[in-house]
Amino acid sequence: MILCVCNGLTERAVRSALSDQAAPPTVADAYRACGCSRICGTCAAAMRDVVKAERARRSNATCNAD
Ligand code: FES
Repeated sequence: MILCVCNGLTERAVRSALSDQAAPPTVADAYRACGCSRICGTCAAAMRDVVKAERARRSNATCNAD
């Protein structure tokens, strides 16, 4: 599914780019990791949801590692 039309980013590409980040990602990190930046902002809410899901995934992974 296309998440950001301006940059041609799919949700899968964003998730993949974020999974390579060392620190918990921010929305700015998501654009940066994909090698682009926010242009029109229409995708901001969807991007925030993907970042939120990635942070939750990492949090769950940490909890389950104990
Ligand atoms: S749709 Fe992502 S910046 Fe425009």
